[in-house]
Amino acid sequence: EKGEFEHFMLKEIHEQPEAIRKTLAGRIKDGRVDFPDLEFDNVFKNTGKIIIAACGTSYHAGMVGRLVIEKLARIPVEIDLASEFRYREVLWNPNDLVIVISQSGETSDTLAALREARHNGIKVLAITNVPGSTIAQEAERVIYTHAGPEIAIASTKAYSAQLLIMYLLALYLASLRDSYNPVELEGLANELLGVDAMVESVLQEQQHIKELAEKYHKVQSIFFLGRGLDYPVAMEGALKLKETSYVHAEAYATGELLHGPLALIEQGVPVLTLISQDKLVDKSMSNIKEIKARGAVVLAICKENLQEHCQECDEKILLPRINPMLAPIVAVVPLQIFAYYMALFRGNDVDKPRNLVKSVMGD
Ligand code: M6R
Repeated sequence: EKGEFEHFMLKEIHEQPEAIRKTLAGRIKDGRVDFPDLEFDNVFKNTGKIIIAACGTSYHAGMVGRLVIEKLARIPVEIDLASEFRYREVLWNPNDLVIVISQSGETSDTLAALREARHNGIKVLAITNVPGSTIAQEAERVIYTHAGPEIAIASTKAYSAQLLIMYLLALYLASLRDSYNPVELEGLANELLGVDAMVESVLQEQQHIKELAEKYHKVQSIFFLGRGLDYPVAMEGALKLKETSYVHAEAYATGELLHGPLALIEQGVPVLTLISQDKLVDKSMSNIKEIKARGAVVLAICKENLQEHCQECDEKILLPRINPMLAPIVAVVPLQIFAYYMALFRGNDVDKPRNLVKSVMGD
């Protein structure tokens, strides 16, 4: 039931700290990640390459997963939209590992990717929120997100939980393979235990974000920009906005803006940019200056300690100071709230956007 909330989407946005705590529960002990009851070592031993396949929001969690697994565990990772994976010739190596990510565990393209891998004798690890789902049953190993049932069609808390699993897995693999400084791994694991509180603090920005949505709800289109780990977050923010508010939203890697889309920037065009990666801020702000000079209205989701770099931005939503590697977990929250209120101000059915279903099944 929705309780004090008007919609499931808002309720589920607010359930994220709890979903994060449940997903972490029992999986970090003394600064080390463990997945009790799962015999992972033989799945991961000798893994040459990881291939992630997923759709929609789950794909965006996989994009973050790729960056952190490569960085920490030093394993090459490919990522594919499951809806495309089916139609390419994958050059399998027996030591590959396929990871499928699906909230529902029933998405047909993701299931097809799993079956294709298994058919080729490749091990499959599934990350899903639904015990007993088809994907959970057919994968070799399963890691469950413990986000609880997600009712709204727009995925929010399941996404946060998927992100947490991506980090846990990266840390787990890194210590298994001794690929990263153990003290830093322990530090990251301990920081993960504090992200629920950081998400709580971003939820306090709700009123401010609501006001921004009210101000901008009549726009026709918004660009979402991000560089590095901010890029998958931009993609997720754009998807959320599209599906709930029906506003055209397009995500671009910040550097790609100059390779075509800049032609669309003119007076008054709204651009939402993610600024959470300390080392990339100067590079991104020089791109932002270019679009500001052409009249764009820039909304920045900006980490508190980087706000002096965003002075030229027209609107700012501040994020708490967080390790840049973990920033996607908090940076997505204002985008979810923004999408929610944009949908509300535009008079849409927030929990059941037109044309959409919770899990895309059938061929
Ligand atoms: O259940 P799944 O994670 O496999 O679903 C994948 C997508 O259909 C899903 O994430 C979709 O993009 C959401 N409605 C996005 O909010």
